[in-house]
Amino acid sequence: MKSLKFKNGDELFPIGLGTWKSKPGEVKNAVISALESGYKHIDCAAIYGNEKEIGEAFNEVFSKGEIKREDVWITSKLWNNAHLPKDVEPAMKQTLKDLQLDYLDLYLIHWPVAFKPDVQSPEGPEDYLTPQEAPITDTWNAMGELKRKGLAKHIGVSNFSKQKLEELIANTDEVPEMNQVELHPLLQQNELFEYCSNKGIHLTGYSPLGSGDRSEGMKQENEPNMFEKTEVQNIANKHNVSPAKVLINWSAQRGTAVIPKSTNPGRIKQNLESAQLQLDKDDLKNLAQLDEHYRYVTGKFFEVEEKGYKNIYDE
Ligand code: A2P
Repeated sequence: MKSLKFKNGDELFPIGLGTWKSKPGEVKNAVISALESGYKHIDCAAIYGNEKEIGEAFNEVFSKGEIKREDVWITSKLWNNAHLPKDVEPAMKQTLKDLQLDYLDLYLIHWPVAFKPDVQSPEGPEDYLTPQEAPITDTWNAMGELKRKGLAKHIGVSNFSKQKLEELIANTDEVPEMNQVELHPLLQQNELFEYCSNKGIHLTGYSPLGSGDRSEGMKQENEPNMFEKTEVQNIANKHNVSPAKVLINWSAQRGTAVIPKSTNPGRIKQNLESAQLQLDKDDLKNLAQLDEHYRYVTGKFFEVEEKGYKNIYDE
């Protein structure tokens, strides 16, 4: 399984542990279990509300000494209420404090959407800052400062469309090193992947298993279940593995990183073992045909036209 390579020589093992939706009370054991099973990549975010507990896991594992901080790639994300340049470093420092770390391997702008500083979760248009009030280019320049200060080794974005990346690149001096977006066989994002590859931007795929544990309010009617797709099941049966392994391996062998979430020690281990699967040409052809541009995470919850957030994904 190939690692993702960065310009400074750093390498990222593609399969990481996702922690979105991992509940307090469960996430500490999940992270300990992942690190002890050999994970070298943990994905976090301030808004997941569990960084303090993840920090306890890091502290416990790293203080034992067998697994070293520098051998694990740790990502976190700037929440939408800290986009004003003066708020960027304090937000990151809070994350570092919660995670009990002194640097991050990767820090991402979580969404191309800004809220007022005291708003965690917006209730109406009045809770947003417009792109003119909080230009994303200013947020990005503040992220660059974090990199120059050594607080983040790499910086990037999340949920950015090709159009948003183009605008950002045209108006700033630094190209993001990563874009974290939803990716799986039903949403392959080939055009975005090609654009990012040409610009030297890596992709990380979230919701690789369809995020069936989202709250009901975040779900649409009649969502497809990827585990039950005939093509996925046929490939899983052919290789005698679970459908989850097929989905995770598809992402990783494609050259993107992937962050399946689990708090179950058996499934955490199984998901890392997806690296050992070898999908053949026929499997890849069959999976390629599944693309239906289907998003589980539609981003509709942040589309507030009067505040300048019309279509998050520009489709
Ligand atoms: P659990 O945490 O109980 O293992 P996503 O990564 O797309 O957000 O999906 C996460 C969901 O997939 C969670 O409900 C998680 O449940 C479940 N999941 C994670 N790994 C597996 C697996 N190997 N097989 C089946 N379900 C899994």
